[in-house]
Amino acid sequence: MTLHRLYTWIAAATVALAACASTDTKMDQFINDLMGRMTLQEKIGQLNLPVTGDIITGSSVSGDVVGQIERGQVGGLFNMKGTRQIRQLQEVAVERSRLGIPLLFGMDVIHGYETVFPIPLAMSMSWDMDAIARSARIAATEATADGICWTFSPMVDLCREPRWGRMSEGAGEDPYLVSQVGRAMIEGYQGPDLADRTTMMACVKHFALYGGAEAGRDYNTVDMSHVRMFNEYFPPYKAGVDAGAGSFMAAFNTVDYIPATGNRWLLTDVLRQRWGFDGFVVSDYTGISEMINHGMGDLQAVSALALNAGTDMDMVASGYVSTLERSLAEGKVTVEAIDQACRRVVEAKYKLGLFDDPYRYLDPKRAGKEIYTDAHRAEARRLATETFVLLKNDDHVLPLKRQGRIALVGPLANTRANMPGTWSVAATSERYSTLLEAMQRATAGRAEVLYAKGCNVCYDAELEKNATMFGREMRDERDAEVMRTEAVRLAQQCDVVVAAMGEPSEMSGEASSRSQLGILDAQRDLLEALLKTGKPIVLLNFAGRATVMTWEAEHLSTILNVWFGGSEAADAICDVIFGDVAPSGKLSVTMPRNEGQIPIYYNHLNTGRPNPKWFTKYTSNYLDVPNDPLFPFGYGLSYTTFSYSPLTLSSTTMGRDGSVEATVTVTNTGSTAGTEVVQLYLRDLVGSIARPVQELKDFARITLQPGESRVVTFTITADKLKFYNADLVYDCEPGDFEVMVGPDSRNVQRLTFTLQ
Ligand code: NOJ
Repeated sequence: MTLHRLYTWIAAATVALAACASTDTKMDQFINDLMGRMTLQEKIGQLNLPVTGDIITGSSVSGDVVGQIERGQVGGLFNMKGTRQIRQLQEVAVERSRLGIPLLFGMDVIHGYETVFPIPLAMSMSWDMDAIARSARIAATEATADGICWTFSPMVDLCREPRWGRMSEGAGEDPYLVSQVGRAMIEGYQGPDLADRTTMMACVKHFALYGGAEAGRDYNTVDMSHVRMFNEYFPPYKAGVDAGAGSFMAAFNTVDYIPATGNRWLLTDVLRQRWGFDGFVVSDYTGISEMINHGMGDLQAVSALALNAGTDMDMVASGYVSTLERSLAEGKVTVEAIDQACRRVVEAKYKLGLFDDPYRYLDPKRAGKEIYTDAHRAEARRLATETFVLLKNDDHVLPLKRQGRIALVGPLANTRANMPGTWSVAATSERYSTLLEAMQRATAGRAEVLYAKGCNVCYDAELEKNATMFGREMRDERDAEVMRTEAVRLAQQCDVVVAAMGEPSEMSGEASSRSQLGILDAQRDLLEALLKTGKPIVLLNFAGRATVMTWEAEHLSTILNVWFGGSEAADAICDVIFGDVAPSGKLSVTMPRNEGQIPIYYNHLNTGRPNPKWFTKYTSNYLDVPNDPLFPFGYGLSYTTFSYSPLTLSSTTMGRDGSVEATVTVTNTGSTAGTEVVQLYLRDLVGSIARPVQELKDFARITLQPGESRVVTFTITADKLKFYNADLVYDCEPGDFEVMVGPDSRNVQRLTFTLQ
């Protein structure tokens, strides 16, 4: 940097700091004045977040919301849609409550709004942070055009537990990748200016460790060492703080035997004091009153516990509005604690610009122009194509030719409501295409697409009912044999079979845990019957989690995992299966061979008796299944192939303040263009605590034309070598490190260097 540029930079930084300070001073003055005029009841009212009853996720709904708003007993509302409805309630707050404090309007905008993007797990498979940030930007544009200024997203709960249905809402099993995705989403939602009419406040959830629920059963206990928390599960939350997220949501589960919502160590010592978070914390849905079931006391006791721990806002439990005054009188909470929580909520409103203009996000003219636009849909379609993971294509059945007759079968082939995927609260499914419609469009005039459903999701009608709620029902009452025979006859008349199978969208998501993760019975039987026809079969696996596909991988030559691709999923699937776009997704979760291997994740510790092969007595392995997964983290094929030159390091030693560069040249060796995600992993070979066998530290997503080569260089600095030691001190330790580079976590080249 020249001296001139340095001075310019210092001058700019000084101006920015001064601007910051003056905003803060202005905000402080405003809030001091406002809070000086608030009664105790009004301050407690700001901490109350009831639900209106539109979209609920628990057994409680809140009554008399309008009356509560008039009395100043409500800080915000959530999961309502549309400026007309929201404006009515904002008017009650602004015009009919004593101090006219505007409400926050929140929603679970977790993968798009009416333009629905792929489920978050799928988005993470794209490894395309710019596209993920753009998806969040679009989600914010649409949601704010419809009255929403606060989203309960991103969910950055690290998850190595595919039985847990909410694996679908996160970004997989890796701390680095989940952190990158979380950061991209926060930047997209919040933009450079929270008060902009097209940006909304993010809420990092669920703090903390919700993805570690025992046995994958939702809301279940979590228990783990602090070393694991800090090194593996915490980094994505910390990245959320560093990215400037305005709010955090406390998790339902226990952390160290204390529910997160009432855990002061977690919410205050770690989140605020250690990481410097200065936004507000909201409980999850009835998270406060659920502490009664956790055995933490009655509603008054758990409300005081939550406030004292650092939960600022009470979602739905009504514990704060109904008990905090009494707790204050009895000395169980302080006025300072109530003031502090109130200040944090009111500050959020200030930062969103609601005090300047409470109707800022309620312009009725925007929705018609800014929601579900062609440009947004094009972006969603493009991102969806990047999320599909080609697991097998042994006989090059894909891409399909647009010719002859194509049989489309399976329970996911002709459903509209299941396409956007779980928890797409604002979706307008009637406008989205089914796969059948999209395939007919994509082949019009060139090939014939014939359809037979072939089977239900599963034989058990009750299980199907529980996995297809909220308008996603699709049960066919015909006899199973009749349906299967119809599909087999259809297949016999066609050149190729596309089987749209897997989970319906509500089989993953909240409260959708599964103990068995294979393709369900009726679908497996249909696949077996189809195989007997001898026709080539393309399995499109719809899934909200890592599923078990051992049988399918053995018997089928072609498997494309399509997850849930959002409102444009059907067209995006066609783009990929007909070869207009080559698949480029890479797994952000490990795919197990069977459920007994779970938890299985690539960045595990070594044992004293490691065994990479299958069975040796007195080593760490199973009698009945190998240790390795069916498909490893980072894995995914394309229609083309890539070769990697030998890995080189710029040096075999590195000083603490220095760096080492790891370089490979990647070449597209096939005949079509393709995108590759080149991955860098490191292993700390000797440490003061046991260290993982490999950890993702960087990646590069590159697109290459046939024959084209690209040099990819990763710079390794001390930051990539640091970890939390047994005393939770974050640092690196001198010694040898292994560098691994490759197209997935299993297929890597290795070299070592020494940190001096
Ligand atoms: C419960 C879920 O755990 C949380 O993620 C969501 O934001 C709230 N319900 C509000 O809908």
